[in-house]
Amino acid sequence: MRSAALVSVLATVLGLGAAKPTTTVPEPPSKRASVPTVTVSGNAFWQGDTRFYVRGIDYQPGGSSAMADPLADTTVCKRDIAEFKKLGVNTIRVYTVDNSANHDECMKELADAGIYVVIDANNPLYSLNRLDPAPSYNTKYLQSVFATIDEFIKYDNTLAFFSGNEVINDNVKSTLAARYVKAVTRDMRSYIKSRGYRSVPVGYSAADVAQNRMQLAHYMNCGTEDERSDFFAFNDYSWCNTNFEEAGWDQKVKNFTGYGIAIFLSEYGCITNGRDFGEVAALMSDKMTPVYSGGLMYEYSLEANGYGIVKIDSPDATSVEEQKEFSKFAKALKENPAPKGDGGFTSTTHAVACPTKDANWLVDSTLLPAIPDDAKKFMSEGAGRGPGLKGEGSQNAAEGTSTGDATPGSGKVTGTPSHSGDSDDESNAASVDATPFILTGLVAALTLAGTLLL
Ligand SMILES: *[C@@H]1O[C@H](CO)[C@@H](O)[C@H](O)[C@H]1NC(C)=O
Repeated sequence: MRSAALVSVLATVLGLGAAKPTTTVPEPPSKRASVPTVTVSGNAFWQGDTRFYVRGIDYQPGGSSAMADPLADTTVCKRDIAEFKKLGVNTIRVYTVDNSANHDECMKELADAGIYVVIDANNPLYSLNRLDPAPSYNTKYLQSVFATIDEFIKYDNTLAFFSGNEVINDNVKSTLAARYVKAVTRDMRSYIKSRGYRSVPVGYSAADVAQNRMQLAHYMNCGTEDERSDFFAFNDYSWCNTNFEEAGWDQKVKNFTGYGIAIFLSEYGCITNGRDFGEVAALMSDKMTPVYSGGLMYEYSLEANGYGIVKIDSPDATSVEEQKEFSKFAKALKENPAPKGDGGFTSTTHAVACPTKDANWLVDSTLLPAIPDDAKKFMSEGAGRGPGLKGEGSQNAAEGTSTGDATPGSGKVTGTPSHSGDSDDESNAASVDATPFILTGLVAALTLAGTLLL
């Protein structure tokens, strides 16, 4: 349980009108795109001037243990894209990608079908260790993460990157890993800016854990601009064929009202009580659209955990067997189109106060670990070739780790890179400015209010 004091502080702080929220304007869609690029602005996603809702599905054929990249195999992706079209999804999430492979064909097939992709930048080999995060936040890990950005940011239908998935879970000790997840988020955003790339949003995908959900959400959107996320996402299994109130989604709208950045569900789809996917109607209704931008149903392929809606007999099978939930999900999407208009979004973004330490949240500092010294060169030189899904991975690399805390603002990128998107071009990449960032009035006010009131 969160302390009542924190809640009232947040309410007070948000009630102050949060001083000076930032007004953001959608970027115009890229002209050459076969699909318009999606950007984040205010607390919502946009396709040009049209609000964009994630109406998607999680895609991980074989489960996480398969360690397979479905977008690196054209037989696999074409087989499944045909099914995605039948479902009518506009987004897929891919949990494991091989950053040494070519994705041109699968990404083009998806773009032609009007489907966007959210990419997890980590994988079981290259990831943070939730119970021993410091050694795993190292140069080898960041090189892989940045190489994944290099590989996917060139596609117009790359919607977003996840900086981590469920690193923090219901083990209270894992909350100490939040500083590292937030550092990785900072580094990814900084890398994208330093390389002069299109500003594809970066955020974290949180586990469905009641006792730290709000603290984690606030943590990922507190502090200086360079340390915050572009959006927040969480996995939610609380709607078990019931309704908005019984599922507690009314509370999740209430709790996240005024949160300050875009949110969507990175996984949803409880399987207790059967499945009619009533979540879709709720997500597309005006009860949720002011705060949420849709979600991804977990999941496409039927694995041992029983959530999938198609059965795939072998990894390279040329056809799949649709389960009875397949048509139910397609029907839910069809009957609940994306609402017209702006959905009651908020045009401004703002930071919230950082959570304070308590029995469920062990983080007692707002300072983040500094980017490892050896990894700084990637900002100007690019990450180089990705390691793919082979080798020993990065968790036990035991070198190139972070030394000390970062000054807030350390991830701020100054200077305008004059090139766009060519990671091999070393000549004119911008460098990261290490000058301490001057706190904005907003953040100072939030911090001050938080300190005084607690
Ligand atoms: C909403 O916030 C309150 C206060 O922090 C918390 O007790 C409750 O668990 C939250 N509800 C949900 C559904 O996250």
